[in-house]
Amino acid sequence: MDRILIRGGARLTGEVRASGSKNSTLALMAASLLADSEVVLHNVPRLQDVETMLEILRALGASADWVGDEQSLRIDPTTVNQQEAPYDLVRKMRASFMVLGPLLAKFGCARVSEPGGCAIGVRPIDQHLKGLAALGAKIQLDHGYVEAAAAELCGGRVTFDLTTVNGTQNVMMAATLASGETVIENAAREPEVVELAAVLTAMGAEIFGAGSDRVTIRGVESLTGTEHSVAGDRIEAGTLLAAGMITGGDIRVTGVETAFMESTLDKFREAGAEIEATAGAVRLRMEGPVQALQAATAPFPGFPTDMQAQLMAVLTVAEGSSIVVERVFENRFMHVPELQRMGADISLSGRSAHIRGTPRLMGAPVMATDLRASASLIVAALAAEGDTVVNRVYHIDRGYERIEAKLRALGAEIKREN
Ligand code: EPU
Repeated sequence: MDRILIRGGARLTGEVRASGSKNSTLALMAASLLADSEVVLHNVPRLQDVETMLEILRALGASADWVGDEQSLRIDPTTVNQQEAPYDLVRKMRASFMVLGPLLAKFGCARVSEPGGCAIGVRPIDQHLKGLAALGAKIQLDHGYVEAAAAELCGGRVTFDLTTVNGTQNVMMAATLASGETVIENAAREPEVVELAAVLTAMGAEIFGAGSDRVTIRGVESLTGTEHSVAGDRIEAGTLLAAGMITGGDIRVTGVETAFMESTLDKFREAGAEIEATAGAVRLRMEGPVQALQAATAPFPGFPTDMQAQLMAVLTVAEGSSIVVERVFENRFMHVPELQRMGADISLSGRSAHIRGTPRLMGAPVMATDLRASASLIVAALAAEGDTVVNRVYHIDRGYERIEAKLRALGAEIKREN
C-alpha cells in the first residue's frame, strides 16, 4: 500500500494546473447513459473514482475507455444491456448512485445498490428517491437494492427538503427523457449542476434555470452524444492554494474558473492571503502570518464542505482562535484527531470546531480517513516541523491526480513510497 512522505518547511512557489473536476466528471459519465450515440469527455482527471465509474458503465454493457492523450474518455452507451449496478461497485463510491436516474429514464427500470453511509456521515438517498417518485417511478427497496420502474416517466414537481447536489443531478437527468415538464425546487446551485445541465442541453435536453434554486426540465424524446471538456476542479485548486498559504508561499493555479471559487478565495483573503483572480487562474501570495477567522460550510455559493478540512489545516497555525462550523455533513471532522497528533490545538463540540492557532505543527505518522481529510493532512504536513507519513493514500487517489507531483513542482519535499 502506498504512503506519502512529506518533510515540512519548504515555501511553495510557482505555477500549477488544476485537473478536470472529479465531481463534474462523475455526473457527466452517468449522463452519458442517456445518449443514443457516443459521448467524448476531455480534461478528465485520472482518478480512482473515475475508474470506478468506468467499471460501472462497463458492467452495464457500455463500452468506455481512455483515448488520445489519456485524459479523454470515449463512452458508447448504445451497447448497454444491463440495468443493475451491483453492490461491489456502488459501495466503493456513492456517486455511482447517479446512474439510477439515467437508467430509469432510458430503460424504464433500474436496480442500483443502496450506497450506505460513509466516513463523512450517514448520507441518505431519500431525496433522490422522492424526486424520482415525483416523476412517476415506482420505487422498492429489496435486499439492499433500490429498484425503480416506470413504463413512462412523466414530468412532475419536486421540492427537495434540503439541498442535494447528486440528488438534483439524478432527478434532472431522469427528467430529460420524461414526458412533459419537471420543476425542481430548492435545487442545488453548484457549478457541477450547471455544467451537467449545459452538457445535457448540448445533447438535446431542454433545461432552464440551472444555477438557481428552481430548475425546469422539458422532456424530449431522445438525446444524442456530445463532446465536452470538463471544467477545472475548484476543490483541487482550493487545496493547492491552501498548501501555498500554509507555507507562506506565492503560487498560481491555472485551469480553473475562479468565479466558482469566490467563497473560498474570500476566506483565504480574510486569513491574510493576497489573491489575484482572473478568469482562468488565481495567484495567492502570503506574506504575514495566517489570521484566525470564523467559517461555516454551506451549499454553493457558500463556503464548500469539500474545503473545510483544508481550511482548518491552515487555521491550525493562525494567530488567534478560529471557529469552523460544518453544516452540510454531520461527521466531517475525521481529520481533527490526526491534526491533533501533529500538535494542532482543536476542540470539537457538535458541528463546531474551535481551533487555537499554534506557532508550529510537528510531523507525525498520520492516517487518511477520507478524501478531503487526507488533503488536509498533506496541507498541514507541508508546514510541520520534520517528517510526516500519510498512510492509506488510496483515499487521496480517489480525488487528487498526482498530488505529490503537483506539490513537488511547487517546491514541496514530498514523495510517494510503495
Ligand atoms: N442528503 C440527504 N438525503 C439525500 C441526499 C442528501 O439527507 O437524499 C444530505 C446528505 O446526507 C448531506 C446533505 O444532504 O448531509 C448534502 O449532501 P449532497 O447530496 O449535496 O451530497 P452529494 O451530492 O452526495 C456531492 C459531492 C460531495 C460534496 C457534496 C456537497 C459528488 C460526487 N460528491 O455529494 O463531494 O461534499 O456534494 O457539496 O458530486 C468530495 O468530493 O469529497 C465529496 C464528498
